[in-house]
Formats: sequence, C-alpha cells, structure tokens
Amino acid sequence: MSRRMLIAGNWKMNGDAAQVDAFARALSADAGAISADMLVCVPFVYVERLAAGLADAPVALGAQNLAAEVDPGAFTGEVNGAMLADVGCRYVIVGHSERRALYGETDAVVAAKASAAVAAGLTPIVCVGETLEQREADQTEAVLAAQLAALFEQCDRATLAAAVIAYEPIWAIGTGHSASPEQAQDVHAFLRGQIADRDATIAESVLLLYGGSVKPDNAAALFAGADVDGALIGGASLKADSFLDIARATG
Ligand code: 13P
Repeated sequence: MSRRMLIAGNWKMNGDAAQVDAFARALSADAGAISADMLVCVPFVYVERLAAGLADAPVALGAQNLAAEVDPGAFTGEVNGAMLADVGCRYVIVGHSERRALYGETDAVVAAKASAAVAAGLTPIVCVGETLEQREADQTEAVLAAQLAALFEQCDRATLAAAVIAYEPIWAIGTGHSASPEQAQDVHAFLRGQIADRDATIAESVLLLYGGSVKPDNAAALFAGADVDGALIGGASLKADSFLDIARATG
C-alpha cells in the first residue's frame, strides 16, 4: 500500500496574532502546489484565527493537547476534543514528550487522550520517543515497545486505526541534532513491525512521522526512509518558508 506523506507543524507555546496572519498568507499562496498533506498545530487561542486565514488553503488545523475527559463538565482550564473539532481542528497531538516530562502525562493518560480524540472525530498524533540516556543504554526499542504496548492495551481498534504515530527522540527535539536517516528508518521499521505483530492492516496504513530537528536541509534524506511517512516539525514550522521547503522535500 502506498501511504500519503504528512507534514505536521507544532508551534508549541509560540506565536502571536501577527505571526499567525503572516503564516496563513504565505501558506495560502504556496501550499496548493505541494503534494503532501499538511497540517499545523497552533496554541488553542489561535486555532480559529489560523483556520480563517487558511480557509482557501489545503492545510488542516490541529491542536497540541486535549482533555482526557470526553464530556463537558467541571474541568477548569481543559479543552475537550469536541471543542477542538468545533473550531476546525482535524488533528491533535497527544503525548508529546514535553507533556510527558513537564506535565506528568503517563502512558495511560496518553492512551485515554488518544481515545478521547477519536471519539470526537479527531486524528490523534501520538508521540513516542526515548531519552539520550535510554538510547545510550540500548533501551530504545524496549522504551518504544512499552509506549506502543500501552496504546494497544487501552485503545480500541477504531482509535488505533485512526492514529498517526510520531517518533520523536527526545535528544533530537530542539537540539539541532536530528536522528540520522538510518536511525529514523530503523526505528520506524521497528515500530511498524511492533504494530504488525498485533494488526497487519493497521501496520500497512499507519502513518509514522519523524520529529526532532527536521529542517529544509535534512528533510529529503529523512523522507527517503521507506517507513518515514512525513514529519512533525517544531522550530522550522514557525516560519512559512522553512515549513513549505520541508513539505516540498517530500517530492
Ligand atoms: P524541533 O523540530 O524544534 O526539534 O521540535 C520537534 C518537536 O518536538 C515537534 O513536536
């Protein structure tokens, strides 16, 4: 099966209204010529503004987090999946390493959020990845297998079939040191194999994104990996020109 390439931006806690507007103008002008699917995950408060700016562009909207709770209620400060869908999101990042490390999100919480996303009709982009310490101790595969196992134990098949998986080695995030194309492909092949052990159909169709210091000058080499189906991009997604150049590198 041939999988489409997916290029996803994650602005993290960056940007302001003027940057959103400039980004939307640039993408509206140039995104039409790009064959990959594209989406951008901005802070909650800018989703509607970016959605309006991208109304005529083939670029989807996403959020960076959602509540694990599905139903509305007394959860001060939280935003549920239905609200995200209501303002135009189609995607939501779940289990980013920053949320796991800084906000205590466990594998169980990540799985609950992935299920909540699918219940709201959103595509969860579930992040997995190892620390430098774990890689150096040869634990990369064990760490990733455990993160995936939690998803398979807790999520139903509809959630698993809808999810995108992003491999984001923590040592590569925001460091300027991307995984090598070989390292990325090796891990992606391992992830697809782990998924195939449980469900061959999902393994064939699931999109595996690589994230961690993806830039215009390393993107094409990363995308050459047979199991690399696109990228989740932080810093280089903040400017339209670098984001578009990475998307063009999908060929
Ligand atoms: P950078 O592209 O800035 O390394 O960030 C990667 C990331 O965490 C995307 O979610």
